[in-house]
Amino acid sequence: MCAMSKNSGKVIYPGSFDPITNGHLDLIERSLHIFEYVIVGVANNPDKNALFTVEERKEMIRAAVNYNDRVIVDQIDGLLVDYCRKIGVHVVVRGMRALSDFEYEFQMTFMNRKLDREIETIFMMTGLRWFFVNSKIIKSAVKAGACVEGLVPDIVCEKLQEKFKAKQL
Ligand code: PNS
Repeated sequence: MCAMSKNSGKVIYPGSFDPITNGHLDLIERSLHIFEYVIVGVANNPDKNALFTVEERKEMIRAAVNYNDRVIVDQIDGLLVDYCRKIGVHVVVRGMRALSDFEYEFQMTFMNRKLDREIETIFMMTGLRWFFVNSKIIKSAVKAGACVEGLVPDIVCEKLQEKFKAKQL
């Protein structure tokens, strides 16, 4: 039996989501057209100097999807493949923006495949409108005083303003 047919009702969308952007949201919505449930796995990576805590990131995602009960927001500690095995999910979805994403995604997919051949990664092209949106550029723009309305969910706009104001104090 191929990996896809094992459990095509559920997909995991892993990432840092620091914070979630409209590009991420678009991918979640499109995945819901294919899968019954999307598990958004927020990676808890202590090596990355995240702006938001895992709890803050999870809450922003829940609010951004309007508390849709087909979107399950959880935390990933350690390896993605271990988490997938634990919850019985065999399909990982990732977004692909510009060509520059390719090498990084290729490396991750290769590593995950080496760790567990039963877990398949699929890619969706990021919506054209969100091609140049990523969490990093959003944070640096807001930090420098830009308004990022329309690029991130409203709740994220608010939380970013709060976060940077608090950091200035
Ligand atoms: O949004 P990001 O930062 O590009 O997401 C990267 C993420 C979280 C998907 C990746 O770092 C990950 O899977 N982390 C969990 C640890 C792991 O499994 N590492 C081995 C595969 S690279």
